[in-house]
Amino acid sequence: MRTQVVIVGAGPSGLLLGQLLFKAGVDAIILERQSPEYVLSRIRAGVLEQVTLDVLAQAGVDQRLKKEGLVHTGFDLLFKSERHRIDLESLTGGQKVMVYGQTEVTRDLMDARQAAGLTTIYETNDVAIHDFDSDHPSVSYEKDGQRHTITCDFIAGCDGFHGVCRASVPSKSIQEFEKVYPFGWLGVLSDTPPVHEELIYVNSTRGFALCSQRSTTRSRYYLQVPLTDKVEAWSDDAFWQELRLRLDPEAREHLVTGPSIEKSIAPLRSFVTEPMRFGTLFLAGDAAHIVPPTGAKGLNLAATDVKYLSDALIEACVEKSHAGIDHYSTRCLARIWRAERFSWWFTSLMHHFPDQGEMGQKLQEAELNYLIHSEAGSRTMAENYVGLPLHFGEK
Ligand code: APR
Ligand code: PHB
Repeated sequence: MRTQVVIVGAGPSGLLLGQLLFKAGVDAIILERQSPEYVLSRIRAGVLEQVTLDVLAQAGVDQRLKKEGLVHTGFDLLFKSERHRIDLESLTGGQKVMVYGQTEVTRDLMDARQAAGLTTIYETNDVAIHDFDSDHPSVSYEKDGQRHTITCDFIAGCDGFHGVCRASVPSKSIQEFEKVYPFGWLGVLSDTPPVHEELIYVNSTRGFALCSQRSTTRSRYYLQVPLTDKVEAWSDDAFWQELRLRLDPEAREHLVTGPSIEKSIAPLRSFVTEPMRFGTLFLAGDAAHIVPPTGAKGLNLAATDVKYLSDALIEACVEKSHAGIDHYSTRCLARIWRAERFSWWFTSLMHHFPDQGEMGQKLQEAELNYLIHSEAGSRTMAENYVGLPLHFGEK
């Protein structure tokens, strides 16, 4: 087989890249090791920046999210048992965010790819990338007991943190930056109405909590837990009881509990790969970087990587210019590091660190108190939360 771009991974990054390339007439084949059902079973954050909404519109997959997405113009910070609203819209000159689950974004992308009759090969085994530092790269994989090879012009590594593409780059050619946090997030999905119409981020002496949502009838809650905790040890009742202890009286009164339809514990890390391009191989999304979920930047960073990469690959395939692909890594990393810094800062501000002591709690509360009373402080929080403009900082 032959195509212009082989995309490894059919998560949001790979599917969005495939859609943008298709819209520009560039051929791509996507290889995915899991089944479509498995990919859709992953529960991830769902706060979309305007930049992400623009990319999804360009890809032609924003019809459902425009109908079903929840527009949010602010969120609450809860600390010392009091809630304070960060008014995103007024602090950013009118910007908002859209609450729409990543699962739904992935589903919309899958449906669009299928409707266009494009090739996604699911349940592939042993994908391997070859000669990506030459002019004749290829990708091989096993399917139904047979080995197949696809020759191509470019390879897009959209295969997530545990993928094969980044792992195939010689260690002398890549630098990895990592910070692992000393706690995890226990997440629960429930078919219960959200406790509040907007999100509530909680700094409690018992640990961080987040009240989020997927719709007006489906809620998503998180509790900071020790890394040693096992999800099996957390009954639904124990979860709701601990969440109540971290909420303010009004939220406690409005909380509607119910059976969890998904419950899991995820670790938190900050991770960045430099560079993101290796000859004809380009990394995008979680394959290149991970953020702690506090700032809801994971999907949004993946979307802007893919926007930059699709523009560059289209320019290379259609106009035969390499300017975009030569600039891809530098352009992505500037945005990635800004989002990593915000996600790390917001995580450090809201979570209870094992070694912070009472002084650490007082310093967090002092910073939160400053933020909510300072327009400059609130604006800094707001402009990073809604997402900086696509060309921010570019000459
Ligand atoms: N061969 C083929 N497919 C692979 C391989 C492999 N060797 N390794 C991983 N994959 C697939 C995974 O099964 C997954 O479907 O690549 C896909 C990667 O998808 P994600 O991990 O979701 O990463 P990405 O598409 O970049 O999306 C980033 O997902 O994890 C969240 O917070 C993150 O919201 C962000 C988004
Ligand atoms: C979620 O709904 O999963 C979510 C929302 C906001 C965050 C993190 C996760 O900051």
